[in-house]
Formats: sequence, C-alpha cells, structure tokens
Amino acid sequence: MDGKKEFREIKIDGCRKIGEGSHGVVYQTAPDMLVKVYREGVTLDTIHKEQALSRWAFVKGVPTAIPFDVVRVGEQYGTVFELLNATSASEYIAESPDHLEWFIEQSVRLMKQVHGIEVEPGELPDMKQQTYAWLEKIRPQFSAAHYETIRRILDSVPDRHTLLHADFHLKNIMICGDELMLIDMETLCTGDPVFELATVYNSYREFPSIDPAAAQFLGIDVETAARICDRTFELYTASSSVPEVMNTARLLGGIRIIDFMGRHAEHPASSHVIECCLRDMKMLLEQMKG
Ligand SMILES: Nc1ncnc2c1ncn2[C@@H]1O[C@H](COP(=O)(O)OP(=O)(O)O)[C@@H](O)[C@H]1O
Ligand SMILES: [Mg+2]
Repeated sequence: MDGKKEFREIKIDGCRKIGEGSHGVVYQTAPDMLVKVYREGVTLDTIHKEQALSRWAFVKGVPTAIPFDVVRVGEQYGTVFELLNATSASEYIAESPDHLEWFIEQSVRLMKQVHGIEVEPGELPDMKQQTYAWLEKIRPQFSAAHYETIRRILDSVPDRHTLLHADFHLKNIMICGDELMLIDMETLCTGDPVFELATVYNSYREFPSIDPAAAQFLGIDVETAARICDRTFELYTASSSVPEVMNTARLLGGIRIIDFMGRHAEHPASSHVIECCLRDMKMLLEQMKG
C-alpha cells in the first residue's frame, strides 16, 4: 500500500542546499526552516524514529534544532527542522584552525551537558546490552582468550542510564556564536560515557586510519582528527586514566564497527573495514597482555 498520501508535500526547487550527511541532504525552505531529504533506502520507520528522538532530545533540554513534521519531497521523504543560525563545526574548523582548542573544550562541555541527562531505564536503547549482543554475533572471529578479555572489559563497564548522542563528530555539532548545539539524534541511547568515547575514537581515529577519506568527510586532515580524539579523551577523563579508557573505548568501538559493517555487506568497503578493525583489536589485545 502506498502510504505517501498522508504526508504534507513540499517542493525544494530553487532551494539552497545547506548541508549533507550520510542519511540525507539538507535544503533551506524558509528563512528559519530546512528540510532534511532522506536518501533512497532510508525507511519511513527510521525517519519517524529520528523525528521522535529529536523531539525527545529537545524536550529533555539537549541544545538542538526543533523538529517539525515528516513530509514528502517528490518521491522521497523528508523531515522539517528549525534552521539553526549557525555554522557546522566542520566548516568552522576549516575556516578557523587556530580555534581548534577552544572548539574541543566547548565540545567536551557539550558532551558533559548531554551526559548530565539521566534517562528512565527502557526509554532509549541500552548501549551495553546492544554491545553484548553484537559481541556474541562476532564471537567466532576471536580466539577464546581474546573473547574472554573483551567480555571481561565489557562486564566491567558500569551499568548507567546516562544519555549518549553516539555520533558525536564535527558534522553533527553546530556553532551559534559562542554556543555549541547538537543535531542528528538518530543514534541517541543510554549507557556509560565510555560508549560515547568509543564513537569519538571511531570517527576521529579508527575510520581515518582505515581510509583518510573519513577525515575529509569531517572537513579535516588525519592529524587534526587524531588531535581532536586525543584531546577529547584528555579533557573528558582524568588524564591519569586516559590510556585505560582509550583501550576500552577502542575495543567497544571496534565491536560496533564490525557488527555494523557485517550488517551492511553492500557497503563497498565492508569486508576491508572489518578486516582492519579485527586486526587493530587483536593487536591491542596482545599489547594489553604485556
Ligand atoms: N537544524 C539545522 N540547522 C542548520 N544546519 C543544519 C541543521 N541540520 C542539519 N544541518 C546541516 O546539514 C548537515 C547534515 O545534517 P544531518 O542531520 O547531520 O544529516 P545526516 O543524518 O545525513 O548526517 C549538517 O552537517 C549541517 O551542516
Ligand atoms: Mg549527521
């Protein structure tokens, strides 16, 4: 059945394109409105889920754009959002590289603000439980000893109901004057903050080490990406525990990437990324023994 009729239809002919991410292309439709037009293959379910999570985040006080309705844009779907009077952090760093340290400090403050929001158990996906399930799926790829080590580390992560954004990178952070705001709420979940740091490690170190294009996607070079990663860990954690937290984050991040790529075999780099992640995790597990 064609369910498209129930949606308001809007046109984007002549509208300015203001951004792009992995799920959609964003157009300005009015002085203070935009529509995020989803790429082919993004299901209506996913779109509604993102809209609901964006609403939830806005109501809970996450500094984010106000979400409006799901609409039809020709043959595609979109979601209307408030247009933030802001620059994406990706563009900001490209234009003001000398403000990198200021930006990292502010982004860690924003991260801690998000992590200050407690979530009722069951309200959002629980990252630790998800990670257990992912680990079981990829268990055959590891020796028994390596699996036991990862399992022990995952067991030791505190059970927490902290709000996590879980895709905290330059393209999802907007800069409005002196303030930072977050967009793209699709991955919102709960858990210990080390799961957030795991996604930070993935965005700024693991993916760019596999393919420098991952840093280019964020508008920066591989060195700057590594700098943002390391400084974020330093500022977020007490400096004495950075190596330990980073090792945990690397293993948790690796599990997430391998599971994700395993479910997206159509992705042209899927098997290469899995191979690289497995290699890096195994190397780290060997180093941790010594
Ligand atoms: N509310 C907004 N105000 C201003 N720019 C936005 C807004 N939402 C998205 N953008 C721009 O569009 C880009 C892609 O949006 P995003 O929601 O992250 O899409 P995706 O889910 O595809 O990653 C962002 O990096 C940003 O530049
Ligand atoms: Mg995005």
